[in-house]
Amino acid sequence: MNPENQRILEARLEIIGRVQTPFVEQRGTPIQPSFAKDVKGRIIVEEPYIGALEDIEGFEHIWLLYWMDKAAPFRPRVVPYMDVQERGLFATRAPCRPNPIGISVVRLLGREGGILHVSDVDILNDTPLIDIKPYHPKFDAHPKSRAGWLDDNTEDRSVADSRFQAPLSRMREE
Ligand SMILES: C[S@@+](CC[C@H](N)C(=O)[O-])C[C@H]1O[C@@H](n2cnc3c(N)ncnc32)[C@H](O)[C@@H]1O
Repeated sequence: MNPENQRILEARLEIIGRVQTPFVEQRGTPIQPSFAKDVKGRIIVEEPYIGALEDIEGFEHIWLLYWMDKAAPFRPRVVPYMDVQERGLFATRAPCRPNPIGISVVRLLGREGGILHVSDVDILNDTPLIDIKPYHPKFDAHPKSRAGWLDDNTEDRSVADSRFQAPLSRMREE
């Protein structure tokens, strides 16, 4: 096998829905849900997956996994939004990843059939959604966990600029 191919997983991702939000570009978009309190969005789930939403209403928060389709290409080292020096990409949440998967815990406000009303969104409008999972404080919260360079960071920032945005030409094509 060609060594190049050993690093490629031939996979097919189903777009299970789209995220509708007020944000059309990275600049000005909150950098995490905790900085997006009460910013409302909607998840429009594709018809084949609507049945899979059953019982979701009981959860106050849900995980959204999505494809950051307007992210700049992969860079191994980045200056993250919350710092002024370079860090290894995998020690950050920067969007320019080899597989640009985003994860956000959002508040679930309600469901109307295949539409989920959510708040606390840090996601661009029309982003392809690849999964939804329930948030459980017992599984997912470690409030006293060490947070590496973020424990000492001095950069106080809550919204993005365009440093991790795809070139404008690519954004227009899509
Ligand atoms: C620092 S990233 C964190 C995203 C997610 N909460 C995570 O931790 O994986 C947040 C930024 O991603 C950018 N973003 C959101 N949706 C995107 C998309 N579809 N394409 C490119 N960038 C996106 C927005 O600019 C937002 O400010």
